[in-house]
Amino acid sequence: MQYTLEEMYGLKDKVCIVTGAGRGIGREVAAGLASIGAHAVLVDISQPLLDEALQEFAERGLQGFAVATDITSEASVDAMTAAVVQKYGQIDGLVNCAGVTYLEEQQDFDIDKFKWVIDINLTGTMICCKSVSKYMLEKKSGRIVNISSVRGSQGKAKFSAYAASKGAINNLTRSIAVEFAPHNINVNAVAPIFTLTDINKDILDQKEAYNWVMSRLPKGRLCEKHLLVGPIAFLLSPCSDFVTGQILHVDGGWMAG
Ligand SMILES: NC(=O)c1ccc[n+]([C@@H]2O[C@H](COP(=O)([O-])OP(=O)(O)OC[C@H]3O[C@@H](n4cnc5c(N)ncnc54)[C@H](O)[C@@H]3O)[C@@H](O)[C@H]2O)c1
Repeated sequence: MQYTLEEMYGLKDKVCIVTGAGRGIGREVAAGLASIGAHAVLVDISQPLLDEALQEFAERGLQGFAVATDITSEASVDAMTAAVVQKYGQIDGLVNCAGVTYLEEQQDFDIDKFKWVIDINLTGTMICCKSVSKYMLEKKSGRIVNISSVRGSQGKAKFSAYAASKGAINNLTRSIAVEFAPHNINVNAVAPIFTLTDINKDILDQKEAYNWVMSRLPKGRLCEKHLLVGPIAFLLSPCSDFVTGQILHVDGGWMAG
C-alpha cells in the first residue's frame, strides 16, 4: 500500500477544539494545529486571555475562532459546541487542556480547593467529552485527546488533588475509548512532565524543586510547550487510526527510569 503524507498526518480543514487555549500549553497546541492547516477553536474561561491568544495568532499569521466557555458548566459547553457546529458544520477533534492545580499538605488541604481542582480538571473534561462526542457519534468519526500528567501515574507530596484528578482522567480516557471504539472515535491522553508555564512557575522558581526535577529527567532539560504539539497532532491525525485508550507520556524519559 502507498501512503501520502496528507493521508497519514493530514489535519487540513479539520475542526479541532482546544480547551484552556487562552494561554500556556493549550494556546501553543491550538497555534500548532492551526499552523498545519486545522481550523483551531480556542476555548477558555477568560475572554482577556482569548483576546491575547488571538492577537498572538494574528502576529504569527494564523487564524482562530475563540469561544469563551466555562468547562465546568454543561450549558456553557453545549453553547460552545453548538457555536462551532453552526460555524463549521463539523467537529473533528477535541483537546481537553484546561486545568488548574492547588498544592497543600494532606492535613491542611482546604476541601473546597480539592473540589475546585476535581471540578475543573476531571468533571470539566467529562462535560466536554460528553458535549462534543454527541456530534462525533452522529458522524461516526472523531478524535479526543485529554491532557493528563505524569502525576496521573505517580503520587507526590502535596499533589493529592491534582494527582487524583489526572489519575481519574487516565481511566476516564480508557473507559470512553472502549465505549466509542465501535463508533470510530479514538480517545487517548497525553501526559506531559513539567513544562514551563504559569501553572507551575511557582514550583519551578524554587531552586530545590527545579534541581530535583532536573536530576530525575533523563533528557536533562524541561519540556517546552511546542514539544507537545507533535504528539497531540499525531493522536488527532489519520496516522493514529488504530490507537485508542492510550496514555502517551511526553516526559523526556521520566517514567522509564
Ligand atoms: N505545565 C505543566 O508542567 C504541565 C504538566 C503536565 C500537565 N499539564 C496540564 O496541561 C494543561 C495546561 O496546563 P498549562 O501549564 O498550560 O496551564 P495554564 O494555567 O497556563 O493554562 C490553563 C488554562 O485553562 C484555563 N481554564 C481554567 N479553568 C477553566 C474553566 N473552568 N473553563 C475553561 N478554561 C479554564 C485557564 O484560564 C488557562 O488559560 C493542564 O491540564 C495541566 O494540568 C501541565
